[in-house]
Amino acid sequence: MQIVELTREHADDVATWSYLEPQGCYDLTGMHPRRFADLSQGFWALLHEGRFIGYRCYGAQARVPGYDYDDDALDTAGGLRPELTGQGLGQAAMAVGLEFARERFAPAAFRVTVTEFNVRALKVVDALGFVPIDKFESPDDGHTYVVLVCRD
Ligand SMILES: CC(C)(COP(=O)(O)OP(=O)(O)OC[C@H]1O[C@@H](n2cnc3c(N)ncnc32)[C@H](O)[C@@H]1OP(=O)(O)O)[C@@H](O)C(=O)NCCC(=O)NCCS
Repeated sequence: MQIVELTREHADDVATWSYLEPQGCYDLTGMHPRRFADLSQGFWALLHEGRFIGYRCYGAQARVPGYDYDDDALDTAGGLRPELTGQGLGQAAMAVGLEFARERFAPAAFRVTVTEFNVRALKVVDALGFVPIDKFESPDDGHTYVVLVCRD
């Protein structure tokens, strides 16, 4: 797997990704493709054997409204192509994303914000060494989110 710049073609694709409930809150269908393709927004494409299988996101776009974030850690989020979820790819995908960000941004720590019911994502980040530091309810969707940090 590798991380590459997200092109307009990737953006047009990712803007159609829709997850089965209860993961629907991770749908990207509400965002204009132009935002994904603008590198300053922090979105990158994840390829496997040349196929576009997911995206990673770094910085402000990886934050969830309703939490008082500090700048001590780099926020990261992401997703796999919906039909590729639940097949054990998530940990490798996220590890590649973290390694890429370590080299490019050299953050003191990483932070992720995951809905409390997203057991699948919580298992993946736990396996990668993230520990929960807080919880909050987002006014945007009313879901409870767990904030987790990983220090190298
Ligand atoms: C979150 C995500 C990256 C996880 O990757 P994945 O490849 O789908 O996850 P896996 O298939 O490896 O499953 C991870 C673990 O959760 C378990 N799991 C899978 N589905 C589950 C479910 N519905 N309920 C409980 N556990 C579940 C798996 O058995 C596995 O457990 P294990 O590590 O003990 O074997 C991926 O599902 C995704 O992109 N989801 C949509 C977007 C999203 O949720 N983003 C999170 C924002 S940080």
